[in-house]
Amino acid sequence: MSSDSSALHSSAVINEAVQTLRDGGLVAFPTETVYGLGADAKNPEAIKQIFTAKGRPSNHPLIVHLAAPNKFDQAQVDWVPVLAPWVRDLSEDALKLINAFWPGPLTLVFKKDKSVLNELTGGQDTVAIRAPAHPIAQELLRKFKGGVVAPSANRFGKVSPTSASDVRSEFEGMLDLMILDGGDCEVGIESTIIDLSSGDHPVLLRPGLITPGEIFAKTGIKVYLPGENTSTQQHGDLPRVSGSLRAHYAPTTPLRMYAPGRVLDALSEFPDIKSRVAVAVWDSDSSLGHDGHPSVHFEEVIVPSNSTAFASRLYRSLRDLDQQGWDLILFPEPPAGEEWDGVRDRLQRACFGSGPSSSSHANS
Ligand code: TXA
Ligand code: MG
Repeated sequence: MSSDSSALHSSAVINEAVQTLRDGGLVAFPTETVYGLGADAKNPEAIKQIFTAKGRPSNHPLIVHLAAPNKFDQAQVDWVPVLAPWVRDLSEDALKLINAFWPGPLTLVFKKDKSVLNELTGGQDTVAIRAPAHPIAQELLRKFKGGVVAPSANRFGKVSPTSASDVRSEFEGMLDLMILDGGDCEVGIESTIIDLSSGDHPVLLRPGLITPGEIFAKTGIKVYLPGENTSTQQHGDLPRVSGSLRAHYAPTTPLRMYAPGRVLDALSEFPDIKSRVAVAVWDSDSSLGHDGHPSVHFEEVIVPSNSTAFASRLYRSLRDLDQQGWDLILFPEPPAGEEWDGVRDRLQRACFGSGPSSSSHANS
């Protein structure tokens, strides 16, 4: 049943995955951001299985993934008929964003069509939609001819998977899951989410590779940050985003960030001695330049000082380090600048939720 690796692009494997979705089963598949755990967006029982498999609270809404029907023109698609069954109204801004960034790592939140299942929206009257750029995701969606809900294919609160084997280890022993193997995810952190449902201003719900600055440059649309001064104040109304919990994307090993040159300060937070510490260091710095600590063994791990490259490897590094039995993992604080916002956001939540008792935070 679980078929992966070798037959990367075999259409027989994709056909089997399509059949699994039609039969109400779950299929994990690659996207350019992270791997998703997919189910038929029109099948309430299949959607319930996703929440059970992830251990995710049922009021946390899912993203519907769509592809245009024609294989050859994903970049020049008329998205209006594709979206019509899902979305109540498509504003001019929405179409501009879609034409500029789809397929790609941008999720948009709309007022939902009444046919969209409550099971997937967490009972809200909005729906999040994205058209992934990964060719395997597109082929799966095109052949399935419908919407596929897909949260990141990890257990709730844990690090999102960026390879097929990451997905396998998340659900090992609990779920006989079909996993399509598309290699390592290029973007490496989840899609940018923009809320268009208020009809007022677009609001950034989750930072990602696509930044408000890039959106403004390509479309002239200004994206507001949550709580940023808009004419109608509606903070209380912002849709729920599980990625917005303070603790998320978390490893089991304690993780902290250190300010430039302040590795030892980060250690002082821990009353019990940490004897084996992995310290991530920018590739642009020749070395840590600290004086060491008599009872601590530090090991340096080089991380890219380019934000896109850093994001691409962030979850891979966190997973690998988490497997290596360190007492503590230290990452450098990302520099200021919106190109680092997605990474900073994920690292902060990962720090907050990290450690053996992370699940108690993650559910709070
Ligand atoms: O890159 C991604 O977006 C990946 C890949 C697999 O597509 N998916 C992903 O799904 O990150 P998930 O479920 O792990 O995160 C989706 C986020 C959640 O935090 C959820 O609360 C939010 O999107 N979301 C879904 N529907 C929403 C809605 N109607 N309003 C506001 N937020 C919504
Ligand atoms: Mg997730």
